[in-house]
Amino acid sequence: MRQGGNEVFWELDVTSGLSRASYGSNMADTGVVEALLRLVEKADDGVDSVQVASRLGVDHQVVVGAVKSLQALGDVISADLCSSKHWELTEEGTEIAEQGSHEARVFSSIPLEGLVQSELMKLSFGKIGFSKAMSNKWIRVDKTHEGGPRIFRTVDSIVDQVQEKLLLLQKGSGSELEEKEKNELKKRKLLSEVTVKSYWITKGSSFSTTITKQETELTPEMMANGSWKEKKFKPYNFEAMGVAPDSGHLHPLMKVRTQFRQIFLEMGFTEMPTNNFIESSFWNFDSLFQPQQHPARDQHDTFFLSDPALAHEFPQEYLQRVKKVHSEGGFGSQGYKYDWKIEEAQKNILRTHTTAVSARMLYKLAQQKFTPVKYFSIDRVFRNETLDATHLAEFHQIEGVVADYGLTLGDLMGILHQFFTKLGITKLRFKPAYNPYTEPSMEVFSYHEGLKKWVEVGNSGIFRPEMLLPMGLPEGVSVIAWGLSLERPTMIKYGINNIRELVGHKVNLQMVYDSPICRLDS
Ligand code: PHE
Repeated sequence: MRQGGNEVFWELDVTSGLSRASYGSNMADTGVVEALLRLVEKADDGVDSVQVASRLGVDHQVVVGAVKSLQALGDVISADLCSSKHWELTEEGTEIAEQGSHEARVFSSIPLEGLVQSELMKLSFGKIGFSKAMSNKWIRVDKTHEGGPRIFRTVDSIVDQVQEKLLLLQKGSGSELEEKEKNELKKRKLLSEVTVKSYWITKGSSFSTTITKQETELTPEMMANGSWKEKKFKPYNFEAMGVAPDSGHLHPLMKVRTQFRQIFLEMGFTEMPTNNFIESSFWNFDSLFQPQQHPARDQHDTFFLSDPALAHEFPQEYLQRVKKVHSEGGFGSQGYKYDWKIEEAQKNILRTHTTAVSARMLYKLAQQKFTPVKYFSIDRVFRNETLDATHLAEFHQIEGVVADYGLTLGDLMGILHQFFTKLGITKLRFKPAYNPYTEPSMEVFSYHEGLKKWVEVGNSGIFRPEMLLPMGLPEGVSVIAWGLSLERPTMIKYGINNIRELVGHKVNLQMVYDSPICRLDS
């Protein structure tokens, strides 16, 4: 049911989209409507919907529904909303009405020779009953008695007024009691006051016990044979709520991204601007000390742009330092000793990793007075790879970068432990690896409890001085970084085995609608 119970009959209209009030779509409800009309017919000054419900043995809301559907037919009935208050026994009150008040039960459990107090206290009604019976002066305590304090009756008989009053209220004769008495019972939580909203139903100007079902649709047949002239049509209900429009749904990748973003933010990281899929080879490769003959650059891995094929704006001094460190070396490095060409660096590509963004950000940082930073990014990258069940030509990378004086491999391992622990991954191992821009480099493995083996979860390293010093970062500043794909944890989390079920034209949108939000640590 949509809102309150009053909407019983309206629900059907809402889901069918047409806003005509309908009744009788269900036999039981039709029966209630007819029975209600017969009761209204017999009662001269009207009936109360609560009483109708109890006479018909149905829930009050069903009668309310019948009232509403009759109202929609015009003036068959008139119904006025009224609210009345009445007293109702609480669970404890009902128990007392049946078994007597606690104090009366205490009184009757004390024999003539008295009862040891500790024995009395063991009874469920003992504690409350004892103090009430004491203040009623029905019992007394003899503390001098050997064997502990003993309770004796002080009167021969009692009248259990509490029980009597509750019985009166239960019978519906509460009016014989004074307000004060009822409030006292309320204070003892034996009684509560409830407000009941009901309809006072009387005959309307066009009252009838036989109601013709109103038409909800004007059909071509009715128009052709003229029968529409005799028909009664149900009025539109412009108050009914329409069908809720389908709202947007986040793709599972975006849900997992939200979680990773949250983890980085909790760790004090700032998000880098990743809003450029197109990048120059300079920032994607050269600034990262990746030589121009590196296999990753050739046609197999990188998508090159044909228009505009080349980038033209570079920070000139920095570009010269990059050229020098590649071709001649410097900053304590021999370089690669090859003929570095600006034409190669100018080539526009679809970025192959978000480390290009990290390079831009670190260069920017080096142009200011250095302060330690923690950066992250989560965005799309592109690789001209053979497609299979787990690889597409585009995917998302998650990258973390920390720059400060004197950071070591130990800091990197520590941060990775903290990061992966927040993902619910606690067992980590590191394996030496190679990246042109980091030294040392480590692949990160975690123990997969399901697969019972170590699986690769990321790549990491300390950026080389050949990358950082030409940017102008102070000597002594080291930058640790790591990266992983967003697709891998998403596929694991949502139990998707083929990447094509997650991304691309074969994706079933229902999968997107139905995927729950993601909690990485659970
Ligand atoms: N850029 C690397 C990749 O494409 C990931 C990485 C980021 C490695 C930062 C080390 C440091 O896989």
